[in-house]
Amino acid sequence: MNLAPSSTHSSAPADEAYRRILDALHDHGWSEQDNFLAPDLTLSLALECATLAAAGTLAWARISQGAARSRQPEIRGDRISWLEAGQSEACDRYLAIMETLRIALNRGLFLGLEEYESHFAFYAPGDSYLQHRDQFRHDDSRTVSVVIYLNADWLPEHGGELRLHPEGLDIRDISPVGSRIAVFLSADMLHEVLPATRDRLSLAGWFRRRAQ
Ligand code: OGA
Ligand code: MN
Repeated sequence: MNLAPSSTHSSAPADEAYRRILDALHDHGWSEQDNFLAPDLTLSLALECATLAAAGTLAWARISQGAARSRQPEIRGDRISWLEAGQSEACDRYLAIMETLRIALNRGLFLGLEEYESHFAFYAPGDSYLQHRDQFRHDDSRTVSVVIYLNADWLPEHGGELRLHPEGLDIRDISPVGSRIAVFLSADMLHEVLPATRDRLSLAGWFRRRAQ
């Protein structure tokens, strides 16, 4: 009898990958891990994002909340599509992995994270997102930010780095290489997206505490 886990489960990130994220987040407020998603899952998610872009169903990203909410392409140039559970098998696999990460973060770092919200993001060549933090002025529920990159064959000369500005430490550039994950504390980490020379596909998400 074959008792090996099914292929879906065996392609999930290893416990060690979650532990490394927790350790790095605890030690310096951010973490980057290569090959976090299985290649077939990254490919399916990339196809889904590219299909949404080609169909014209991505919405221009906006900044701020409430009355100030607006599109400001000189500040933020990406187009997005919010994820909903059940929209595809690939999205559900991704959301299940994020649920495992949420539980690990709560167990290891006592963060009290209750929800996860996530969108596909598509930056065309030249688009960027200027320096910002991920918490809104009047809503501190976003606690941990996650970005997973979906481009295969990304080279350093394509640009498009996520540039972190950790307080008191050197700038850290993270190239958006497919299957790589970047995680950081939403309230603390000043960061920006540098322009790229090719389409840049990703999934951005936020673990939230209950709004106060
Ligand atoms: C964001 C963001 C970083 C990235 O969407 O808020 O900062 O690398 N994204 O795409
Ligand atoms: Mn951000």
